[in-house]
Amino acid sequence: MRYSEDVIEEVRMKNDIVDVISGYVKLQKKGSSYFGLCPFHNEKSPSFSVSPGKQMYYCFGCGAGGNVITFIMEYENYSFGEALKLLADRAGIVLPKQEMSQEEKQQEDSKKRLLEVNKLAANYFYYQLKHPQGQDGYAYLKKRQLTDETILHFGLGFANKTSDDLYRYLKNKGYEDSFLKESGLVTIEERGGHDKFWNRVMFPIMDVNNRVIGFGGRVMGDGMPKYLNSPETRLFDKSRNLFGLNFARTSREKYLLICEGYMDVIALHQAGFTQAVASLGTAFTPQHAVLLKRYTTQVILTYDSDEAGTKAALRAIPILREAGISIKVLNMKPYKDPDEFIKNLGAEEFSRRIAQAKNSFLYEIDVLKSRYSLEDPEQKTQFYQETAKKLLIFSEALERDNYIQAVSREHFIPYEDLKRLVNQFGSRLGIQDSYRAFGRIKENGSGAGDRFAVQQEDKNTTGREAGKKGRGKNEKEEKTRQPQRLLLTWLIERPSLFAKIEGIISAEDFVEPLYHQVAEMVFAGHKAGEIKPAGILNHFINDEEEYREVAALFNASLKESLNNEEQKKAFSETVRKVKKNSLDWAGRNARDIQEFQRIIREQAALGSLHISLD
Ligand code: UTP
Ligand code: MN
Repeated sequence: MRYSEDVIEEVRMKNDIVDVISGYVKLQKKGSSYFGLCPFHNEKSPSFSVSPGKQMYYCFGCGAGGNVITFIMEYENYSFGEALKLLADRAGIVLPKQEMSQEEKQQEDSKKRLLEVNKLAANYFYYQLKHPQGQDGYAYLKKRQLTDETILHFGLGFANKTSDDLYRYLKNKGYEDSFLKESGLVTIEERGGHDKFWNRVMFPIMDVNNRVIGFGGRVMGDGMPKYLNSPETRLFDKSRNLFGLNFARTSREKYLLICEGYMDVIALHQAGFTQAVASLGTAFTPQHAVLLKRYTTQVILTYDSDEAGTKAALRAIPILREAGISIKVLNMKPYKDPDEFIKNLGAEEFSRRIAQAKNSFLYEIDVLKSRYSLEDPEQKTQFYQETAKKLLIFSEALERDNYIQAVSREHFIPYEDLKRLVNQFGSRLGIQDSYRAFGRIKENGSGAGDRFAVQQEDKNTTGREAGKKGRGKNEKEEKTRQPQRLLLTWLIERPSLFAKIEGIISAEDFVEPLYHQVAEMVFAGHKAGEIKPAGILNHFINDEEEYREVAALFNASLKESLNNEEQKKAFSETVRKVKKNSLDWAGRNARDIQEFQRIIREQAALGSLHISLD
């Protein structure tokens, strides 16, 4: 770790976690914690908790958890250093300068360098566009009716006809081949480096923090491929970024417009619709939905009006719906895409289309209908049946009824008949569906799991990163890990239990390496009078899997007090298991016969060990 523990801890303590997270997630107080919709996975009911006491967050749905620093790392996709800097600035702390070796710098700053080189390239492309060598590109953008202001705002540029000028430019700046290759801007072959983009107008792709992370480059004529995009790099993850979101996030509209192309976004922004975004030459993903959910709960799809655009919309709708985002679909006809539409009919007409945008479910039914020829009674019947089945996605009766009414009105299907058909399918398959939907809501709710042992077990297996890096915990291993985990959780949650285990259990008895480290700090904290979970977490910040697991330890809560007989027994069992484990482990590692004999004696005494909670 590059900064001293003290510095990290100071930054952490001066940034109250509830304050910080409130800036990103709408939180509501419930008991001693705050709850909100998890920014790290799709959910409709809040299972994301923030504890002011522990200064930690934890999601009971997906297992994401950590302290204020890891929150910024995950949310902003920042490195540890970047997150620390943001929080230090926020609290008015000046971070000490870091002395680093050349090698350290290279490793640690590879992401920073990628950002640097992308920014350099963007400036380079912009410079070319604005100079004689870029006149083809400039003329092209002008022909597409972009103003100089728009060109500057989006940082559009031009990659020259020469096939290695950017490469040479970057080489001159001191970047080595291996790194440039990693940046995706050049290809390195035997005969030297070449630019990936040449003779194209360039669209820099920025993340939500306005940092250039990649490029799209368009041919100026009919060449193929029409757009060439940067490959994914450590920086550039297509499924987690959206073109234009850096600007759209600050637009004042309640909804966002999602369209298909770079040019659509740019044309819309130029026309005043700064709430427009587009995916990056890939389909819309659930991660995109999670990202959008941070900024809005309503979107309007403005996909191309051709067959491909319709298909893309039909694929995006369920993904957005699953994320709990309300969706409408804009009718662009008779034009193909927003860019063409605005050029021909203007911004005002586009606003009118926004106001008329159609509820996405009714849109889906329209598309469905267009696939049947309704003069044929058989096909007409099929259309009704498919419609009825589709209506079953609404598990809530009142909502479903509203849609039955709307569909019957729009498509002239008698209401009673449609309703009967829906119920008929519902009793066949729908009931299961609504049970499933109900089950999901219950799972996500904070009331899930009342036996704490079971509850904690869940938490450690549903974490989205569980099992990552193939640290496959086999069943046998898990048998010894589980009691250690449980006991640690209990001690953290209820420090009065320390008195009960005094003389029986010490930090040494936690033999699983990760738990051992945590136990050392928990026992030391207890001795010093205060256990600081978020501070302890600082030590694991460099390993996502570790800090998540530690966060889970600190956030498992004891729903029930330890006062019924069953639970007292569970506690005493757990202590015994941890001790037995620890003795078994010590037995395997005993250095001499005396030690071994002592262990044997302790093992024998274990049978009569009595831990009382009274
Ligand atoms: P379109 O073909 O609709 O392009 O592709 P567009 O944005 O409307 O651009 P113009 O108006 O023809 O210049 C939509 C999006 O799909 C991706 C790009 O992100 C593009 O903006 N795409 C398209 C590619 O990545 N590669 C391609 O070859 C074509
Ligand atoms: Mn298009």
